[in-house]
Amino acid sequence: MSDDHEMKPGTRLTSAGRRKEWTQGIVNPPVWRASTMLFDSVADLRAATRRPNDGLYYGRRGSPTQWSLPEALTELEPGAAGTMLYPSGVAAITTALLSVLSPGDELLMVDSAYEPTRSFCEGLLKAIGVTTIYYDSMIGGGIAALFTDRTRAIFLESPGSLTFEVQDVPAICAAAKARGIATLLDNTWATPLLFPAIAHGVDITILACTKYIVGHSDVMMGSATATPDRFEKLRRTTHGLGQCVSPDDAYLALRGLRTLGVRMRQHQEGALEIARWLETRPEVARVLHPALPACPGHAVWQRDFSGSSGLFSIVMAKGDEAASAAMVDGLRHFGIGFSWGGYESLALPVYPATIRSATRWQAAGPVIRLQIGLEDPADLIADLTAGLARFGAPANG
Ligand SMILES: Cc1ncc(COP(=O)(O)O)c(C=O)c1O
Repeated sequence: MSDDHEMKPGTRLTSAGRRKEWTQGIVNPPVWRASTMLFDSVADLRAATRRPNDGLYYGRRGSPTQWSLPEALTELEPGAAGTMLYPSGVAAITTALLSVLSPGDELLMVDSAYEPTRSFCEGLLKAIGVTTIYYDSMIGGGIAALFTDRTRAIFLESPGSLTFEVQDVPAICAAAKARGIATLLDNTWATPLLFPAIAHGVDITILACTKYIVGHSDVMMGSATATPDRFEKLRRTTHGLGQCVSPDDAYLALRGLRTLGVRMRQHQEGALEIARWLETRPEVARVLHPALPACPGHAVWQRDFSGSSGLFSIVMAKGDEAASAAMVDGLRHFGIGFSWGGYESLALPVYPATIRSATRWQAAGPVIRLQIGLEDPADLIADLTAGLARFGAPANG
C-alpha cells in the first residue's frame, strides 16, 4: 500500500502486528497459551499438517500471540520478508548463522563481536567444519580482499560490543552482494527504529529483544528478520532446531515494543548528556559513544543512523581493576549486572582485550560500560561524580 510506505516509524510501532483476526478487537493480542490444537476431524488435522506455517497447527509453531510480534518486527524493516523468534538473542545469532553456513564454508566475523558469538564460532561452527576469520570492524568495503571461494557469510555487529566501533554496513553489504555472500548483522544497539538494517543492504538482521524491545529486564528473547532470498532457509532451520518462544514472553515483548520510541528518545537524551559530561572529566581518557566524534566510525553513524541509544563505554585515563571496582561498587543508581536495554541504569567493568584477535585493544586505563536508563540524568551525574572520586582516590591511583 502506498500510504503504508509514508507511515513514520513511531506510528508503525503502535499499529504493527495488530491484525484484527488476532486481537479480536482487544488492543493487545491476548496470550494464547497452547501446545495441542484440536481438529474437528482427521481430515482437518491432515490438512493442517500440509500447511504448518499458516494457521493453528501445534504449539511449537505458535499462536496469534507469537505471530503478532514477528509480524510487527518485519513491518519495522522495509524490504524484509519475515521474522523468526528465539528464546534468547544468542539463539537468534546461532540459528541465523546455521541457516547460511555448511561444513567447509568460511565465515568472516567482526572482531568486536559479542563474546558468546565468538564462542559459537570457536565451538560448534568449528566442530562442524566451518572456519571463522576475524576482521577489523573498520574494514569497510576493503572486506572484499578477504573473500575466498569458500566465503559464504559475513557477520557484522554495529556498534561493536564493549568498544562501539560503527561499521560501514552498506559498503560491506555491497561487496558481499556482488559475490552472493550472506550478510548478518547484530542490530541490538540501534534496533530497526534507529537503523533499518534490511534497507541498508543486510540479508538477516538480528536483535537480542531481551534488551530494548522488551525494555523492562524481565524476558529473554531474540529475533532474526530476513530478506525474501534468505527467509525460507532461515525459517526451515529455525523450525528444524525446534526453536520457539512462549506466548507470555511474546506478549511482554510486544508490549515493550509499543513504547520503544519514547524509551529510546529518553535513553538517547540521558546517555548523551552523561557522555558529554564524562568527556570533560580528567579521570576519563575517551568516551566511546557512536554519536561523539572520538568514537571510531562516528562519521558513518552520522550518515546511517537516525539516533543513538543508551549504551556506551568510558576508557579511564589511568587506574586498574581495583579502582574500577571501587567506583562501580559504590554507585547508588547503577546496578551491577550483565545485559542492558532495560529502564534501569547499569555499570560494568569490561575487558575488550580478551575478546579481540584481528586487532589489538590498547588503552591507558580500564574500561567501564554504562547503560543509561530512564532515571533523571542529574541524579546519575551526581552518582558518577562520587564514583569518579572513589576511582581517583590515592589508594587506587
Ligand atoms: C550485542 C548483543 N547481542 C546479543 C546478545 C545476546 O542476547 P541474549 O542475552 O538475549 O542471549 C547480547 C547480550 O548481552 C548483546 O549484548
